[in-house]
Amino acid sequence: MCDPGSWSRRQFVKAASAAAAASVFPAAPLAAVPAQPKRRYAIVGTGDRATGMWGAQLVERYQDILEFVGLCDINPKRAAVARDLVGVSCPTFTDFDQMCDRVKPDLVMVTTVDGFHAGYIVNALDRGIDVLTEKPMVIDQAQCQAVLDAERRNKRKITVTFNYRYAPKHQLIKETLLSGEIGRIISVDFSWYLDVIHGADYFRRWHRLRARSGSLWVHKATHHFDLVNWWLAADPVEVTARGALSVYGRNGSVRSTHCRACPHKKTCAFYYDMTADARRMKLYADCEDADGYYRDGCVFREDVDIYDAMSALVTYSNGATMTYSVNAFLPIEGYRVAFNGEKGRLEVRDYERQAWKVDTLSEIALIRNFGERRLLEVPAIEGGHGGGDDRLRDLIFRKVQVPAHMALPDSRAGAMSCLTGIAARTSVEQRRTVRIAELLRL
Ligand SMILES: NC(=O)c1ccc[n+]([C@@H]2O[C@H](COP(=O)([O-])OP(=O)(O)OC[C@H]3O[C@@H](n4cnc5c(N)ncnc54)[C@H](O)[C@@H]3O)[C@@H](O)[C@H]2O)c1
Repeated sequence: MCDPGSWSRRQFVKAASAAAAASVFPAAPLAAVPAQPKRRYAIVGTGDRATGMWGAQLVERYQDILEFVGLCDINPKRAAVARDLVGVSCPTFTDFDQMCDRVKPDLVMVTTVDGFHAGYIVNALDRGIDVLTEKPMVIDQAQCQAVLDAERRNKRKITVTFNYRYAPKHQLIKETLLSGEIGRIISVDFSWYLDVIHGADYFRRWHRLRARSGSLWVHKATHHFDLVNWWLAADPVEVTARGALSVYGRNGSVRSTHCRACPHKKTCAFYYDMTADARRMKLYADCEDADGYYRDGCVFREDVDIYDAMSALVTYSNGATMTYSVNAFLPIEGYRVAFNGEKGRLEVRDYERQAWKVDTLSEIALIRNFGERRLLEVPAIEGGHGGGDDRLRDLIFRKVQVPAHMALPDSRAGAMSCLTGIAARTSVEQRRTVRIAELLRL
């Protein structure tokens, strides 16, 4: 890593441009890496994320330095399908201990259903194995404590794969704030919009159950809370929140188990035809008899116990406050975030999906007090999650050199973002302000 002290104000300003965003992330040296033993890589939880982002796409780009040694899932059929989709020939397992004993990985990727991350993280660390984990690192405070204790006890390393940080637009926001142009940040307005396509999809799947996902306060908002912690370089201190289930679950007037079997297909606005997606049919429908899991579950099932409308007020260690909301039933997908600084305001509007044409997908405007409004140029980079996925993988596997503020997110980042959501969920349940410090000892 570069010395953070050597990253001057001038460099930050320079970095807040398209050219600089590319320069702090040089193209990964695909062929020129000196010969090194391949890392023995295993995955637990072989669903969509594992087979794509952390599977086939790794085989495509990192075969020279990674060897897939094992795939583990409680659903043996899905593990076998995953092996085909990833295009490897390693053994598959339903038991994590057996996999580790047999194939001795030196790096484990945790991509199970959220509620099971912690158990596998602790197990791998106790075996002396470094861990990559998908977000959220944990879904409650007891899991959080167990994971942090295991990391400390074993002196191994957890990386939480917060890909959003690596989208060039988010790096641009970070570097603009670091440049000091709008001065000290006093407050943040942050609204995340999930539409009736993507938002509804959370209510079709395991995410609809708090015990699996920790609710969208944790599963989804962990991304947003991590961005804010990183953007502000501050920790959350206390959270007051409200939440409701207003559209999905018991709010529906008719329901079924899942869309393929539904008698209301023709009239339900949320009908989803999974049969049109060959990959999903293979990964989920063909494996249903092993675990009874429906990927196209009805969004109106009565067991939905998460919220679809959430609002919070968060205070931070640097004195800043944030008003935050996420709604999951909207006609638009995207977000607005604004930083209110003592010298100006940074306003961001991100357009992911809407029924009209937009001129730009991300608009970032810097407005100086008594000054002008200037639009910042957002670097256009292709790829998943705004180009963040590729840059994150290059950083993990190719160890490209980046300034300190782009370093890989660690367990502390994983904990702080989850704890914000856990505090928000607790605040909704107990109708009181919740302090982060009451949730665990760091
Ligand atoms: N960073 C991102 O942008 C991003 C995007 C999508 C998903 N994710 C994360 O990736 C993870 C996987 O999500 P997904 O969309 O692939 O879900 P998925 O449902 O497709 O896959 C989850 C897999 O975990 C398996 N599983 C469930 N319980 C298990 C257990 N106890 N032990 C072992 N395996 C178990 C399931 O059988 C399934 O194959 C989640 O934690 C999710 O939050 C992150």
